[in-house]
Amino acid sequence: LENGLLRKPPMGWLTWQRFRCVTDCRQFPDTCISEKLIRTQAKLLVDGGYLAAGYEYIIIDDCWLNNTRAADGSLQPDDDRFPSGIRSLADYVHSLGLKFGIYEDYGTQTCAGYPGVLGHLEQDAQTFASWKVDYLKLDGCNADIKDFDAGYPSMGHALNATGYPIAYSCSWPAYQEFSKMKPNYSAISQACNLWRNWGDIDDSWDSVYSIIQWFGDNQDRLAPFHGPGHWNDPDMIVVGNYGLSPGQSRAQMALWSIMAAPLILSVDLRAISEWAREIILNKNLISINQDPLGQMGRRVLKLDGNVEIWSKTLIDDRTAFVALFPQPYGTPIQLSVNLTDLGLGRFDEYDFFETFHGEFLGKYHKNERYSFTINPSGDVHAFYVESAIAKTLRIIL
Ligand code: GLA
Repeated sequence: LENGLLRKPPMGWLTWQRFRCVTDCRQFPDTCISEKLIRTQAKLLVDGGYLAAGYEYIIIDDCWLNNTRAADGSLQPDDDRFPSGIRSLADYVHSLGLKFGIYEDYGTQTCAGYPGVLGHLEQDAQTFASWKVDYLKLDGCNADIKDFDAGYPSMGHALNATGYPIAYSCSWPAYQEFSKMKPNYSAISQACNLWRNWGDIDDSWDSVYSIIQWFGDNQDRLAPFHGPGHWNDPDMIVVGNYGLSPGQSRAQMALWSIMAAPLILSVDLRAISEWAREIILNKNLISINQDPLGQMGRRVLKLDGNVEIWSKTLIDDRTAFVALFPQPYGTPIQLSVNLTDLGLGRFDEYDFFETFHGEFLGKYHKNERYSFTINPSGDVHAFYVESAIAKTLRIIL
């Protein structure tokens, strides 16, 4: 969507994967979906250095609404859990330098059963703008998916008509893909800033790997519509919770960076481990994710042991690679690959660097092979390459 927003993949934090739909604040005061949770996590996004690294949106997913609309038909939050109201919460979030996002649903009800926007598109868009909502995730439960091709653009127009800049995240293709319809990605990319393509992520390697495979299998349909202002969305980063090992966490972050996917965390920032925090804040991975070309990386090779190599072209003739060893057990695997099979041949020589730490791995001629080791159980070897000649030319020209 060319509304000037999200020229780079959005980065932020969302309640859903970690906090789901806990509404009983008497029993679960620290984890229920409430203004207290949002204020606490927003403060930690800033104090923990996440905002400085680029994570700027804090988004409330489902379960913030009151069961009914107000007498005038407008949306209202649950007032036990959001006693100060959404506008005041958004003001607090903005005062920290963050942006504020919220969830709704195109249908009659949200996935968790709260009022949806159907029949109230203009009114709800006005409400969001008056609350200073910077980002809307619009889900697609309890709706007729045949209506989406008209309905999602209508909500987009209603948001645009408010004059308040609101990034627009659609679930339009996800529901169509499940029903084996072929989504019209050209229309979707013109109407939405990002869109969920496939199933919900869970806090497990099985889930993360199956999503990676779905994107690899469908990359030819998806990649052409991916770029500044319009992004495919493989769903949240689950790093820092319970299900992923350090290696699998490195793998999720590395693959999401290669895919230029939205980096939307869903983790309790009060309880995150230092190693998980370091992965999430890794500068080199974030800069690959946020590369200005906005290219969606692709799976380019399959090797022994189900190892697959993904690559992404970066600005200034650099290329980022991730080799993934997905099998959930084993011992380190040694591999070697021709540079030409990696798509490297335009220059005679390339400098290789390890991505997580940036260390120099050596100079390779285009006719040579590159050898590397990947640890087992869903880890990655991430590396990037550049040509010294291309670099020199850039400085001269
Ligand atoms: C759907 C979405 C999830 C989340 C829930 C909320 O399952 O795909 O991301 O928003 O609804 O109910």
